[in-house]
Amino acid sequence: MATAARFEPEIPLPHPADLWNALPTPTMLLDPEGRVRLANTSCEAFLNCSAATLAERGWEHLVADDSMLRALVLEARAKGQGIAAYDLSLGLAGGSEQRVDVLIGVLADRAGPWLAVSFQPRAVTAIVDRQVGQQGAARSAMAVAAMLAHEIRNPLSGIRGAAQLLEAQLDSDGRELSRLIMAEVDRVGALVDRMDSFTDTRPLRLQPENIHAILGHVRRLAETGFGVGFQFRERYDPSLPPVAGDRDRLIQAFLNLVKNAVEASPPGGTITLATAFRQGVWLRPPGSPARVSLPLEVQVIDEGEGPPAHVADHLFEPFVSARRGGTGLGLALVAKVVSDHGGVVEMQRRDGRTVFRVLLPVVREGA
Ligand SMILES: Nc1ncnc2c1ncn2[C@@H]1O[C@H](COP(=O)(O)OP(=O)(O)O)[C@@H](O)[C@H]1O
Ligand SMILES: [Mg+2]
Repeated sequence: MATAARFEPEIPLPHPADLWNALPTPTMLLDPEGRVRLANTSCEAFLNCSAATLAERGWEHLVADDSMLRALVLEARAKGQGIAAYDLSLGLAGGSEQRVDVLIGVLADRAGPWLAVSFQPRAVTAIVDRQVGQQGAARSAMAVAAMLAHEIRNPLSGIRGAAQLLEAQLDSDGRELSRLIMAEVDRVGALVDRMDSFTDTRPLRLQPENIHAILGHVRRLAETGFGVGFQFRERYDPSLPPVAGDRDRLIQAFLNLVKNAVEASPPGGTITLATAFRQGVWLRPPGSPARVSLPLEVQVIDEGEGPPAHVADHLFEPFVSARRGGTGLGLALVAKVVSDHGGVVEMQRRDGRTVFRVLLPVVREGA
């Protein structure tokens, strides 16, 4: 397979088996009858079992009886569909616990589906950890913001009133300064208002909402406001079921994402709003035994350069901003709204674009 008819590269490909064993991700290949047919070296190390023993005795004896892995493999085989399960705790038969992401890929075959089962110890899992960190940071910042908002408003109106009174008694140089005071006071006031929206602790009013109607509203607001002169494109999956959401809060969150996308875009750039239904995306919320299905995906995509390296890992924390005049509250608010909905938000760079990806739960039947 290393030789091509017309073109002979100087360096031949290594043998596929060597490549397979070089893969850093522990992966095993199950045939349509569920037997382990291949297990790479990192899989042997991860499961602490040789490929030969795996082939002979299977993988099931290595994991606890109630392990979620069994259910996931059954599900993938029954549906013939890939699955990504984040942050599972994998009980190994030796008694140890591993927190992993399990990704199952499917290869259809006449005899049934082959499954490539790979484990990612603490890789994507970091997203969840970050999310938990985000929640904590958001909560403490919220308390500070609520206190500040309250304490700052009163003196502000005093300062503004005094500057206004002074203006009447000053010459034109002095008036310029008093106007500067008022303008700056107004800027601080606007910041306090934004902090206030961040401290909104009213309970969510979850209702079945059409996410496309919400995104359409956000798009119209953007097109007639901060997004004048930019192109907006929609790439929607029309079969999407309703989200279990609070309309106002979701509008607030997506408005922030779209505003950031506009600010990051080159002049006249294109911002894409995309939705998709992704079966098999699961999250186990920390501290809860249940797993939650998050099949509803919304992406806000821009063609900008992406966040600078020094903020990329802290985007969702409050007061992190790399923008002149930025408050760093936008994405903290997004993280709060999304996590209040039980969802996840993350940023990815893909094909030279910046993608903010939000996963949300759908309305549960009978709920
Ligand atoms: N779409 C994006 N592309 C590039 N950088 C972004 C994008 N969205 C957010 N950022 C970065 O994240 C920072 C924080 O965003 P945000 O919390 O909304 O605060 P602010 O917009 O007030 O700076 C921004 O300053 C910017 O550096
Ligand atoms: Mg912003």
